[in-house]
Amino acid sequence: MNTDILFKQSIEDKENFWKEQAQEISWFEFPKTITSNDENQYNQWFPDGKLNICYLCIDKHIEDGFGDQVAVIYDSPVTNQKKTYTFNEAKKEISKLAGGLISLGLKKGDTAVIYMPMIPQTLFSMLACARIGVIHNVVFGGFAPHELVVRIDDCKPKALITATAGVEIAKRIPYLPLVEKAIELAQDKVDHIIVYNRKLVKNQHEMFDGLIDYEELVQDSEPADCVSVESTHPLYLLYTSGTTGKPKGVARDTGGYATALKFSMKYIYGIEPGETFWAASDFGWAVGHSYTVYGPLINRNSTIIFEGKPIMTPDAGTFWRIISEYKVAAMFTAPTAIRAIKKEDPNGELVKKYDLSHFRKQFLAGERCDVATLDWFAEHIGVPAIDHWWQTESGSPMLGLMTFNEEYKIKRASAGKPIPGYDIKIFDENGYELDAHHEGYLVIKLPLPPGALLGIWKDYDRFEKSYLSQYKDYYFSGDGAIKDEDGYIFITGRVDDVINVAGHRLSTSEMEEIVSSHPDVAECAVVGIDDELKGQIPFATVVLKNGSSISEENVEKDIVKTVREKIGAVACLKNVMVVKRLPKTRSGKILRKLIRTLLDGKEFQIPSTIDDEKIIEEIQEKIGEYRA
Ligand code: COA
Ligand code: AMP
Repeated sequence: MNTDILFKQSIEDKENFWKEQAQEISWFEFPKTITSNDENQYNQWFPDGKLNICYLCIDKHIEDGFGDQVAVIYDSPVTNQKKTYTFNEAKKEISKLAGGLISLGLKKGDTAVIYMPMIPQTLFSMLACARIGVIHNVVFGGFAPHELVVRIDDCKPKALITATAGVEIAKRIPYLPLVEKAIELAQDKVDHIIVYNRKLVKNQHEMFDGLIDYEELVQDSEPADCVSVESTHPLYLLYTSGTTGKPKGVARDTGGYATALKFSMKYIYGIEPGETFWAASDFGWAVGHSYTVYGPLINRNSTIIFEGKPIMTPDAGTFWRIISEYKVAAMFTAPTAIRAIKKEDPNGELVKKYDLSHFRKQFLAGERCDVATLDWFAEHIGVPAIDHWWQTESGSPMLGLMTFNEEYKIKRASAGKPIPGYDIKIFDENGYELDAHHEGYLVIKLPLPPGALLGIWKDYDRFEKSYLSQYKDYYFSGDGAIKDEDGYIFITGRVDDVINVAGHRLSTSEMEEIVSSHPDVAECAVVGIDDELKGQIPFATVVLKNGSSISEENVEKDIVKTVREKIGAVACLKNVMVVKRLPKTRSGKILRKLIRTLLDGKEFQIPSTIDDEKIIEEIQEKIGEYRA
């Protein structure tokens, strides 16, 4: 099958195209309606279909005779543990945990927050929820209590599943004190707190009354069967950064998502059932949901849960060791991970220690990939490194290459071509489509294909305002892009207040809210500046209140500490520069793009709307002093 034909069908004959793809997964009731056609409504897929995604990930493969195949590989260099689970073993634990959740009173439509590190019990918890129709919300373990509170208050979980500790290289992070703080601050009460005891930190069970031990719950419960849910039933909520301080709860459906993931495993990643697929992402991100848990398991691939870093655990050869040891056919990571490896092992000496003969393809996403990193990869690893672009909102790739038939052609620095289902255009501000080589906004013609977000949890207005109101009949991605004459698209970066720090999506508006709350700060601007390793890092410029006597050093220390406490260390806000005033337009809008360009030391044009040009020199001088 030719890629161009597939794409054409997906746009011109959507219903038949996706009906055919939906036939690739097992339904309890195959949908009679492929897509809801109400012109005034955002589209839904397969509305009268019924299925269960845990069944597709686990039970189906056992019924097909693959119960003894390895489903999950856990490799944790930070705790010196390795363990595998077959589909049979995974089913036993998941179904009993699901039974345990039922015994606690959880039922279809309830929500549960999962705040856990990279351990198999996280995957089991996600699938146990899915098994009984409980909507899960996984919260990245690196987030601070405040982030947990925001999510608890928004999705009102009946249960919170956590673990006693995470491990960051040699550092142990006790989770229960963080959970305790979040529970204290949250407006809503969580009925049940279930804790997996990793026995890595001093027992903290006495911290709360009524903590439920994960292992006891599993042991004491009867296995539960998969419940049949509507295709549009929310499988999970995943909060992501937007243009305001409050994260957006992206809601994902079940049937459209399962269909899109199965399609992507076959056509985009070119992976056969039975092979090993590894997405080295934390469960707390979209990649972890789609390609560490649901995608590979639906496709009957063995998936790897890696608890470690690409470097220092124990060295920059750890990725190649895992690829070799588990015969990984394709892997997915963020370019920052490869940059970190390249920095530690510039000549690829550690690569030579491992047999990578089973390794066919490396997929990269999450942030822009620089050409130097691609070149290093090509020289030392010798398999294609394929960039592709997507968002939490889409749940699967929107730009990329279809690698199933080996006819694909990589263009360095491009994230590929539109994936079937995604009718992508580059618009100018007024909604006119731009020709090749002109930079504009990346937009997608509605309806979006299966798998894309159902909406923002209980906030249709925000959903409409964030994505649908900019251009009629188009989804606004928030990214800038350029296309070339062959249809390849080059992502130029976010056009809003979102930044990508080491593949982690963060909001500068949220950071600005925290910085402004400092008692000595009058106003501030947080922008993402270029960083060789992490792609981008935040940088705050602040103006102090008149009469403030705090030293610049102390204000920086305070702000760095508060951002770590409120968002988490992952925010990586380490630089705070005090300035006399911020550059603004005559109407008082802060010129953040100008600040960013000055901090990056790049060429700039003086904005015609600037209030006072002299400020540019002032800021440049201050940058010189700050960097000295
Ligand atoms: N729990 C607690 N703390 C965490 C954490 C977690 N799950 N994850 C990160 N942190 C902390 C780190 O310990 C570090 O703290 P420090 O400032 O006290 O040292 C801080 O957050 C920054 O962490 P990180 O961004 O991971 O930077 P790093 O310097 O430790 O490692 C990389 C750099 C490039 C190796 C690492 O960022 C990486 O592997 N990135 C890939 C990201 C990825 O896969 N993204 C998914 C999208 S595909
Ligand atoms: P997230 O929702 O966390 O997956 O982040 C999505 C954002 O990451 C996108 O809107 C882009 O800004 C950025 N991104 C993801 N993949 C790529 C890529 N391949 N190239 C450039 N930017 C990317």
